Amino acid sequence: MKQPLENCTFVIFGATGNLAKTKLIPALYHLDMDNLLPEGINIVGVGRRIKDKEEWLETLKDDLKERARDELDTVVFKRFYSKLSYFQSYMKTTEDYQNLKEYLEQKSFSKNIAFYFSLPPSLYAPVASSLGKAGLLKEDNSGWRRVVVEKPFGSDLDSARNLQRHFDRYLDESQIYRIDHYLGKETVQNVQVFRFANILLEPLWNRNYIDHVQISHSETIGIGSRSSYYDRTGALRDMIQSHLLQLLSLVAMEPPVSMQAEDLRNEKVKLLRSISPIPKDAVSSHACRAQYTNGMIDGEEVNSYLEEEDIPEDSVCETYAAMKLYVNNWRWRGVPFYLRTGKRMAEKRSMVAICFRQTPKQFFRTSQLQKFEPNWLLIGIQPDETLRMELTVKKPGLDMQTQVISMDACFNEGTSKDAYEGLLLDVMEGDHTLFLRSDEVEESWKIIDPVLRSWASHRDYIPTYPAGSWGPEESLRLFEKESQNWRCSLDPVKD
Ligand code: BG6
Repeated sequence: MKQPLENCTFVIFGATGNLAKTKLIPALYHLDMDNLLPEGINIVGVGRRIKDKEEWLETLKDDLKERARDELDTVVFKRFYSKLSYFQSYMKTTEDYQNLKEYLEQKSFSKNIAFYFSLPPSLYAPVASSLGKAGLLKEDNSGWRRVVVEKPFGSDLDSARNLQRHFDRYLDESQIYRIDHYLGKETVQNVQVFRFANILLEPLWNRNYIDHVQISHSETIGIGSRSSYYDRTGALRDMIQSHLLQLLSLVAMEPPVSMQAEDLRNEKVKLLRSISPIPKDAVSSHACRAQYTNGMIDGEEVNSYLEEEDIPEDSVCETYAAMKLYVNNWRWRGVPFYLRTGKRMAEKRSMVAICFRQTPKQFFRTSQLQKFEPNWLLIGIQPDETLRMELTVKKPGLDMQTQVISMDACFNEGTSKDAYEGLLLDVMEGDHTLFLRSDEVEESWKIIDPVLRSWASHRDYIPTYPAGSWGPEESLRLFEKESQNWRCSLDPVKD
C-alpha cells in the first residue's frame, strides 16, 4: 500500500499547448477522480495567450470531455476545477520570473514544487536558467523542487550535453525527470515482468534461439498542427531516439539487480552502450528514411507531407525511419534488431515482434512438409495490449499439413490508464524508475548521431511512400536475410 503523497504545487509551462490539453490535464483529472492526487495540490497553468483561469478552462473542456474515461462527472470536475489556477506571463524577463516566484509564495501553495516543461525544446535551457536565477529551483527544508522535461532532450549528442550543462548549474540529477511516456505504458512495463518473472523464456532469450527482433511503431495520423516542431525534428529523433530505443533496452537488457530506479537505469545504459556504432560509410545499409506522399487513410484522401500547413516545399524531413542495430554482447551478438516508425502508415500499431530461429527440418524430411513458419513471440503495445506466442501444429486430417496457432494473453480488459497518469504521480512521489537518466539520453544520441549526420549531408533527395501504406520499399534493404520481412500484424504470417 502506497503512502499518501506529500502536498505539492504542480506548475505547467505551456499550459495552453497541445500536450497540456490532450495529455496532462486529462491525466490529472483522472488522478483526481481516483482520489490519487495530494489533498491540497495546486495545479498552476502558465501561458502567454490566455488571460485567466476561466478562459483557460474553456480551451481545456473539449479535450477533457473527449478524453475522460467516463462522462465528465460534475462533482469531480468541480473539485478538480478548484485545484486549478492560472498565471499569465510571457516568461521572458527577470521580472516575469520574480512575479511567478511571488505568486507561488502564496500561503495556500505548497513549497514542494514540480515544474513541467510542456514547451518547445528550444526553451528548456532558457526557462531552466531563469527559474534557477530566480531561486525557484533551490531546495531547502521547506520543500523539494523538480523539473519535468519532455523528449527530445537536445537534438543531437552535442546539444544534449549542452542542455545538460545548463541544467547542471541549477539542478541536481535527482531533481530532473526526463519523461518518455512509453515507459509509462502498461504493456511496456509488462515486458519486464514477462521477462523476469517467468523462467520459461530466459533460456531462449539469446542469440542461440532468436533470429531477429523487430520493434515497430506505425501511426495513421500525420503531423497535424505540429509542423514547426516536426519539420525540425523528424521521425528518427521524435520516435527512435527515445521511445523505440527504450523499448529495445527493456527487451534486451540483462536482469537488473533490483527494480529500483538506479539498478534498472544502470542495466539500460549498459545495454545501450553495447550497441555497435554505425560506421559512417555504412549508414545506408543500417538506416532508411522516407516521407509520405498523398494517399488514402480510412477511405479518405490525405495530403502529402509537403502539402501540410507550414512545411517548406523542399523539406526532406523524414516521416518514416527504420534502423538495423546490433547489440554486441554475449547474449545478442549477431542478432539484428530492426526498428521502424512512420506517420500516415496503413495502421496504428506498436509492437515488439521476436522471431525465433527455424528448427532443424531433418525430422520432417520424409513427410510432405516443405516449409513452416518460425515461432514468433509478439508483444502488442497498442492498440492491442497482448502477448501472443505462435506455434506450428498439425492440421487435423489424414495429410501431414501444418498450421500456425497462437496462444494469447490479452491484458487490456478496459482498465488501462493513460501512461501520463502513472508518470505524473511518480514525479510527485519522487520515483525516477520510469524516467531517463542523463547518461541514458547521451548513449541514445550516440547511437543515432551518425545517421543524423549522414542524412543532414544529403539534403537533395528523400524516398517517399504513399500515405496509407506500410512504408517505402527501400526499407527492405535493411534485412539481413531473404526470409526476414516486416511483421505488420498480430495475425499469423500468410504465405
Ligand atoms: C510522441 C511523438 O512522443 O509520441 C509523436 O512526439 C507520436 O509524434 C507519439 O505521435 C506517439 O505516442 P503514442 O502513445 O500515441 O504511441
